[in-house]
Amino acid sequence: TNTPTALIMIFGATGDLAHRKLFPSLYRLYKKGRLTDRFAVLGVARRSLTLEEFQESVRKSIVEFTGEQDGLDEFASHFYYQSHDVTDSSSYIQLRELANKLDEHYGLEGNRLFYLAMAPEFFGTIGDHLKLDGLTDTAGYKRLVIEKPFGHDFESAQELNNRLRQAFSEEEIYRIDHYLGKAMVQNIQVIRFANALFEPLWNNRYISNIQVTSSETLGVEERGRYYEKSGALRDMVQNHMLQMVALLAMEPPIKLNTEEIRSEKVRALRSLRPMSQDEVNQYFVRGQYDEGTINGESVPGYRTEPMVDPESNTETYVAGKLVIDNFRWAGVPFYIRTGKRLGSKSTKIVVQFKDIPMNLYYNTDEKLTPNLLVIHIQPEEGVTLHLNAKKSGSGMKTTPVRLSTASKSIDRMNTPEAYEKLLYDSMRGDATNFTHWDEVALSWKFVDAISAVWENTKETTFPNYAAGSDGPQVADQLLEKDGFEWWPVENLEIDNC
Ligand code: BG6
Repeated sequence: TNTPTALIMIFGATGDLAHRKLFPSLYRLYKKGRLTDRFAVLGVARRSLTLEEFQESVRKSIVEFTGEQDGLDEFASHFYYQSHDVTDSSSYIQLRELANKLDEHYGLEGNRLFYLAMAPEFFGTIGDHLKLDGLTDTAGYKRLVIEKPFGHDFESAQELNNRLRQAFSEEEIYRIDHYLGKAMVQNIQVIRFANALFEPLWNNRYISNIQVTSSETLGVEERGRYYEKSGALRDMVQNHMLQMVALLAMEPPIKLNTEEIRSEKVRALRSLRPMSQDEVNQYFVRGQYDEGTINGESVPGYRTEPMVDPESNTETYVAGKLVIDNFRWAGVPFYIRTGKRLGSKSTKIVVQFKDIPMNLYYNTDEKLTPNLLVIHIQPEEGVTLHLNAKKSGSGMKTTPVRLSTASKSIDRMNTPEAYEKLLYDSMRGDATNFTHWDEVALSWKFVDAISAVWENTKETTFPNYAAGSDGPQVADQLLEKDGFEWWPVENLEIDNC
């Protein structure tokens, strides 16, 4: 296999993301032999830490999040640290010297990955300094890996992008959407394009609607300050939800390479109908959680969470109908919904096929259920096909049956996590599962039209769903208007087969 060499510079190395995801992912790659001994990680953060303290924090994170410790000392010896002021040139000059030394010591060929795992307000400043102070001036590749949020709306995203482009080209910027690292999100295109069974039906002649649900049980946790300004629309819809929609709606790429896949995704996003004010009011609804019960424990309402305005108008739930104006999808609604503090942690896609032209089995006591293809993204992974078959016994009664590859017994610890795949891809220079600027721009424009309407109308019914419930009722009405219903996520669990 391909074993890239690199100096991985992590800004925000004392933070949550580094400890929960990045260090454990690097460790797993190391254990699998996907990192040779020719790598070094240079952690950068404000806090002053000794090298020993930093390496100890790396070891702790690995034991805690992977449950393993094989070869840990050796692995941690590749980690270095610098306490850093992101606005100060002399800090970057020191960093450059350390980077050059590590380069030479490990034979890294000048390959550099700059990972910004920190507050977005510093992205621009860091980009400026990396160039100004000579860190991007290197013999090998230079790549910037950047976490969301990428801007707050189209305008700020464009401003940030223009600024970063002073130091990095589009090809060198890897914008993370961690949903694109999930195994079953990557599987959407394989299910579609590697099976003769689905692609012929994948259009408005045979599909009646598509439902994408991402529900969470977690609340806003410690992120009130960020979330107050973001809300579910910017936090989940602009990125993860629209990326899943693009993968479901895109045309088959002519080849399986980054540019071809991307240009089909971009075309799908371009065919999303921009929402007028009337359409926003008709097609999009929001919610905010009240106190309630999650897994038998009572939890507070959003408005009493830390760093949240007691009269906050921020949505913690969004449901909407997307209209895709192209030949394939005209007339097929794509419904999306996502929210915090719901009854279950679950991400699923339900493709509902149209009813058969004529039902021969009406005089049985059961109505025929439509065929469904369920793509289970998490916590189970796999697909389930819902069919109708004959009930055993005499007569011609029908009963729903399910063909499923979904498995529940996933050992989370051993599942290659999204970040592991994405880090590896960024080191190999494969940008397929990252979001291109064109995708970011189109998604922001789509979302901006909705937030513009919402920001001008204060929601008077907030809070409108109890923590632990299925979300606000307005979300059901959205589909009822079209004669559909949300397929309840629990009934799609494989347990109920
Ligand atoms: C993040 C959001 O991008 O995705 C969080 O900022 C959200 O608010 C998270 O909780 C959900 O990711 P996952 O992988 O748990 O579905």
